[in-house]
Amino acid sequence: MRTGYPFLPLLALLIRPVSANFLLADTYIGRDFLQSWTWETFDDPTHGRVNYIDQPTALASNLTFASDDKFVMRADFQNVVQPPARGRNSIRIRSNKAYDEAVVVLDLQHMPEGCSTWPAFWSLSQQGPWPNGGEIDIIEGVNMNTANLASLHTTPNCMMPPAGPPNRFMSGNVTSSNCDANVNFNQGCGVQFSTPASYGSDFNAAGGGYFVLVRSRTSNPGVSIWFWSRNDDRVPLEVRSPPPNPPTAAGLVAPAAMYPTAWWGEPDAVFPLCDNCDYASHFDAHNFVFDLTFCGDWAGTAYSTSGCPGDCNDHVDNNPQDFLDAYWEINSLRIYSPAN
Ligand SMILES: *[C@@H]1O[C@H](CO)[C@@H](O)[C@H](O)[C@H]1NC(C)=O
Ligand SMILES: *[C@@H]1O[C@H](CO)[C@@H](O)[C@H](O)[C@H]1NC(C)=O
Repeated sequence: MRTGYPFLPLLALLIRPVSANFLLADTYIGRDFLQSWTWETFDDPTHGRVNYIDQPTALASNLTFASDDKFVMRADFQNVVQPPARGRNSIRIRSNKAYDEAVVVLDLQHMPEGCSTWPAFWSLSQQGPWPNGGEIDIIEGVNMNTANLASLHTTPNCMMPPAGPPNRFMSGNVTSSNCDANVNFNQGCGVQFSTPASYGSDFNAAGGGYFVLVRSRTSNPGVSIWFWSRNDDRVPLEVRSPPPNPPTAAGLVAPAAMYPTAWWGEPDAVFPLCDNCDYASHFDAHNFVFDLTFCGDWAGTAYSTSGCPGDCNDHVDNNPQDFLDAYWEINSLRIYSPAN
């Protein structure tokens, strides 16, 4: 049953009332990103040794590449960075559209890896200003990490319960429980994944995999994230081979997402709605972001303890060949929205 398409009416009867059915709202594949996302070029707010370039520059230098079925964003791997420069050329893109409750299915072939790198796939409030409306980090890590870290960053009064009953069943490990961005140096409330190959070179060596985010206002868990490596035989069929568009009545991804543990197994990370963190005052509609920075607040601070040699910024400036594998390769990003 867990690998089949969910059958909505039966599921609704068997489990409990379904508050919202989700329908495919947007598919981003290949060139779709060029039209529907914005290349952001400001100074990295996390103080990375990075120079975010605009779309025409990125296309001309092939640091962004789009075909019918692939979308690639990479760091410059050819040029030494001169000291007065802002940093190594790289990409940061943001979806023009914002989504509140959603099921987000990312099929990712490759993520940036290596010393000095700090890639992230995340979302933040369209309205802001940050951290109003919240931030959800779905993929994040630095340097030679092998385990993905998912976290929330919020305004005050958002505490996550410990893992376990009644509503925080997940395979990942809690690294911190206070989501307030104003404390603990903006560490946020994090969960480190236990599923093998969720990040970095292990992820890439396995041919990538699938990340799924579910955001729900009305049912627990409020924010859940799953990861499956490419060849994991537990990848749900509706994730590996998405239902047709427009979906048939039985082809909705939503019921599986709303009652996923029966179908999808335990999430890697769960951030439940609870008395200590109400959804409505901490989260609103978010834009999605892919970025790749270098060093800065996290990758720089953790550089030497991550098994990386020398100085982080110096590594970025003088070793372009080390950034050959510092690229995102996206097969598809599908976002489902409530049907009503
Ligand atoms: C541009 O990048 C794509 C994706 O990495 C690659 O397949 C292609 O060969 C590159 N083109 C050139 C001219 O380097
Ligand atoms: C995660 O927690 C489990 C127990 O729940 C423990 O066995 C494992 O060592 C932990 N992993 C890390 C990386 O701390």
